[in-house]
Amino acid sequence: MHKVLAIETSCDETSVSIVSNIGDTFKILSNIVASQIADHAEWGGVVPELAARKHLELLPFVLEKALKESKIDINEIDFIASTVAPGLVGCLRVGSITARSLCALYSKPFLGIHHLEGHLSSILFSENYPKKTFLTLLVSGGHTELIKVGEKREMQTLGRSFDDAAGEAFDKVGRLLGLSYPGGPAIEKIAKNGNPIKFSLPKCKISDKEGGFLKYDFSFSGLKTAVLRLFEKLSLDGGEIPVADIAASFERVVAEVLVERTIKCAIDYGLKDVVVVGGVAANNTLRKMMISEATKKSIRVHLAPLNLCTDNAAMIGAAALFRIKFEKNLSSLKLGVSGRFPIDRATSLYEKNPPF
Ligand code: KG4
Ligand code: ZN
Repeated sequence: MHKVLAIETSCDETSVSIVSNIGDTFKILSNIVASQIADHAEWGGVVPELAARKHLELLPFVLEKALKESKIDINEIDFIASTVAPGLVGCLRVGSITARSLCALYSKPFLGIHHLEGHLSSILFSENYPKKTFLTLLVSGGHTELIKVGEKREMQTLGRSFDDAAGEAFDKVGRLLGLSYPGGPAIEKIAKNGNPIKFSLPKCKISDKEGGFLKYDFSFSGLKTAVLRLFEKLSLDGGEIPVADIAASFERVVAEVLVERTIKCAIDYGLKDVVVVGGVAANNTLRKMMISEATKKSIRVHLAPLNLCTDNAAMIGAAALFRIKFEKNLSSLKLGVSGRFPIDRATSLYEKNPPF
């Protein structure tokens, strides 16, 4: 049995978790998430400098609580991991320097984890997670990507958003509709009382230079603008704005686009398992639509556990344990942090000469 202490501070959640595995079974011993949502809500989005300062304030207490709840002494920990990329650089630095200092102090090996690999590792806590090559739809506030994941974590990005991420679109449309931050859960809540086919909104595509459209890529910026134009038109018409109907129509179109392109990609690449992870994977319309459409094509869907969709350190711990189990990967203490880094190069985080 291996035990890992993991730290996640890439955006606005300060999180520490102790995770263990026995063979293929991954277990959470503690997972403390201190959300900063309330601190950023008044600004309508994450303020990077404020987020980094909050991580500095919160991390010692979150760390103490995670150890206490797990009933594990720090000396019994085998590995220490932290998110090192991508994310807000000032925020990543707080978690990474804490993890590496603990490694130096307690003579523990260090693993730097790619945040998106963390998200896709949240699936390791669900029963019957896929063991063979699978397709991941990663939908969060910062990313919308289709990633082919090999048995040993060889990763290849097959599609991505060219502008706003799906979660970002939820947040921006939420703000436009006067809903609270973050927009995703707020839109989902109000959309329950709305008519999802009331308004027709565009399923934006990216043109291919060779002609036609890119099949597995996304664009949400045009959809956001279409909602803005609709809102302006309805405001000019006078009367009450049907916020619930707009929210439900927007949520339906986002889910349809994500489901259609994911299934097309899985079929074209002959992949029978689809994993859905990231903050937007908490959306119930998306979850239900993905299962019903994929089942028609005999594709199995594995959804991230609801409590592990948004940022948390347990998923970072699971990614670390997976790396140790299959590849015996460890990172250099010289590994720094990077705001942007492609997941296709995640394995280079375990090279003697780190990429950053
Ligand atoms: O994965 P995450 O915590 O952070 C990033 O790594 O970006 O995702 C946060 C995003 C936010 O944009 C939020 O609006 C969205 O996930 N989100 C949702 C839901 N819950 C969170 N979007 C749609 N429906 C939800 N229920
Ligand atoms: Zn995330």
